[in-house]
Amino acid sequence: MSVLHFSTYADASEVLRHKDLRQSLYDAGAVIMDQVLLTLHGDAHRLRRVLEFRVFRRDFFHRYENTVFPRTMAETLAPFLAAGHFDLLDFAYRVTMNLTADFAGIDRPARTPTETEQLLALVHCFSEGATLVHSTRNKADVEVEVRAALAELETDFLQASIARRQNLLARFNRGEIGEQALPSDVLTVLLRNEDKMLLPPDLLVREMAFYLQAGSHSTANSIAHAFHDLVCWLAEHPEDEARLQNDPFFLQRCVFESFRLHPASPVAWRRPVCPVSLPGGDADDRDEIVVDLHAANRDQHLFGTDADRFNPHRDIKKPTPPWGLTFGTGPHLCLGRDLDGGVVPGDGADPATHQFGIVTRLLAELRDRGARPDPANPPTSAPHTKRANWGTYPVLSHGS
Ligand code: HEM
Repeated sequence: MSVLHFSTYADASEVLRHKDLRQSLYDAGAVIMDQVLLTLHGDAHRLRRVLEFRVFRRDFFHRYENTVFPRTMAETLAPFLAAGHFDLLDFAYRVTMNLTADFAGIDRPARTPTETEQLLALVHCFSEGATLVHSTRNKADVEVEVRAALAELETDFLQASIARRQNLLARFNRGEIGEQALPSDVLTVLLRNEDKMLLPPDLLVREMAFYLQAGSHSTANSIAHAFHDLVCWLAEHPEDEARLQNDPFFLQRCVFESFRLHPASPVAWRRPVCPVSLPGGDADDRDEIVVDLHAANRDQHLFGTDADRFNPHRDIKKPTPPWGLTFGTGPHLCLGRDLDGGVVPGDGADPATHQFGIVTRLLAELRDRGARPDPANPPTSAPHTKRANWGTYPVLSHGS
């Protein structure tokens, strides 16, 4: 067996688009990731992706970003602002957990802090299970915890969420309610199309758990990275404060640049399902393919000689997206990309109708509320993982 590394942007893109390479990064995290969308391959993947994609259309994101999300953000932020100091990651996890629960289809009927705490603890456990390959803890211990968390998700949240949707679907099928009365989420789509695919109950629980962690973990970390990058940039380039005030698209550029430097998953892994020809040679099912997204996003040919530095003025030529390969490419391209990143503004884009993405919206709100690093409590790195993420990020704010 050989391990083949691909770290230029061109090679990494080609490998990620290859149809005969299956996902393998989550083989170690099978306790939660077995047969969820991200680990499926070929026709089975296409069938489920086409169905679930219905929830991730741009028009729906636009509505969500402008109507549902501002309320969720304000509700979540209020107690943090009242305190005048808070942990940015704690806030980011809470708000993005609600966001991904909305898209997955997990109801939170109580909407109490206790309910949020419970769901958050489950999501942390699912994230650890999914990224077991990068965990520094005993893997068997983590698996026991993940199985218990999946059972808790099912009894305390999923059973009621399924029952409510099945009831609505039955009424819809009898013609008593219209399409618009059905929830717009992945769970509803899956229950509505049960006849088209085999989705046993244990897999449905894993699919929901996968969504909760896929959306919240990556988004929360991206918020903390973008906040930090912006703080450091403005400390060295105070002249850009004015640009932030006057150019509504500049903050989104900063977020794109931060996405590029900190892909949520620094590598993607693939395994050939048959003998394949790849840049630089051939491979077969005994070989492990490592796509280095972190390195590809710092490829100097595309991003310039200062590619490993944060520079929101960087000129990145089309068709390369300003976030590089952070949301992947090819068959597994992230379904949440436009939701989190928004749309790249074209010439003459109108800020009143532009889709900025959830991360930019959150950073704008934090800036408006005077959020800044707490000088007495510097941020710390995330423990128990080799991934370069923040573990705590204390900030001060204006207050409510
Ligand atoms: C900044 C935030 C995010 C980043 C950096 C990110 C990154 C990624 C990447 C790199 C992949 C592809 C992995 C691979 O090819 O091996 C992916 C897939 C996926 N992402 Fe995201 N993601 C983010 C947010 C979200 C959100 C908010 C959601 C949902 C609400 C989401 C849902 C998904 C799904 C469902 C897939 C699997 C697609 C498939 O296999 O067909 N992501 N994401």
